[in-house]
Amino acid sequence: MLTKSQICAYQAPHDLLKNHVILVTGAGGGIGKAVALASAKCGATLLLAGRTPAKLEGTYDAIANSGGPGAVICPINLEGADADDFEQLNAEIESQFGRLDGLVNNAGILGQRTPLNHYKADLWESVIKTNVSAQYQLTQALMPSLEASSTGASIIFTSSGVGREGRAFWGAYAVSKFAVEGLVQTWAAEVEGMGTLRINAINPGATRTQMRANAYPAENPERLKTPDDIVPAYLYLLGADSLGVNGHSIDAQVTK
Ligand SMILES: NC(=O)c1ccc[n+]([C@@H]2O[C@H](COP(=O)([O-])OP(=O)(O)OC[C@H]3O[C@@H](n4cnc5c(N)ncnc54)[C@H](OP(=O)(O)O)[C@@H]3O)[C@@H](O)[C@H]2O)c1
Repeated sequence: MLTKSQICAYQAPHDLLKNHVILVTGAGGGIGKAVALASAKCGATLLLAGRTPAKLEGTYDAIANSGGPGAVICPINLEGADADDFEQLNAEIESQFGRLDGLVNNAGILGQRTPLNHYKADLWESVIKTNVSAQYQLTQALMPSLEASSTGASIIFTSSGVGREGRAFWGAYAVSKFAVEGLVQTWAAEVEGMGTLRINAINPGATRTQMRANAYPAENPERLKTPDDIVPAYLYLLGADSLGVNGHSIDAQVTK
């Protein structure tokens, strides 16, 4: 496995993801869009999942304009979706591609920045469903396609610094990211040594997106890394250089 700074500076070969089929959730903007575009530039066919078709179309057009092998839009609202929706998606992937080589569970919502004493119950449920339960259910449903990958599928979940050390006022979001860390450790232990499937988490670190702006409205976004800056860690985990890397929680930025 590469060192932390090597992962953050990873330079992907231009054909790293040639013949790979990769699904990214939350692909309409922010980090998900950057990961989708970078993966397409490395040769992957992208399945763009998200809840706002117009935003997914923007990513689709950008991929089409960059000359990649192409993309498919998969509208899905993770919060409202159930097991049937996820299984339907798996059936469509199986019939169209026969396998899935990468899954980037990136979509997420922030919820409230407020004391737990005052957290709204319905928002708590929304955050936990979107950030953890739906991602678990989606991954479980897609497992037949992932296990059919001949290159060894890579599953990435998205963590956060507040999912590793509790911090006041981050509420359900922090709890959801702790759950993601636990999910990755548990699932990775279950697949360890059983083939080339690997399951890891990425902590993007402070990144210039709408979610970050919502969390820190007074912050100067120009001082933050952009989504494009942090894609090397994602490409590393999606490509063959990370075969055998399983059960890790990786930082996409070198922190001082
Ligand atoms: N930015 C940071 O500093 C930072 C730091 C640590 C971790 N993260 C994590 O990184 C990931 C990406 O965040 P981001 O910063 O790129 O945020 P973002 O710009 O707000 O993007 C979040 C994405 O998730 C999608 N999404 C939200 N709810 C959804 C639902 N119910 N169904 C389907 N898609 C849904 C959004 O779609 P719409 O645009 O259509 O709403 C959007 O594409 C998240 O998991 C976040 O927790 C970010």
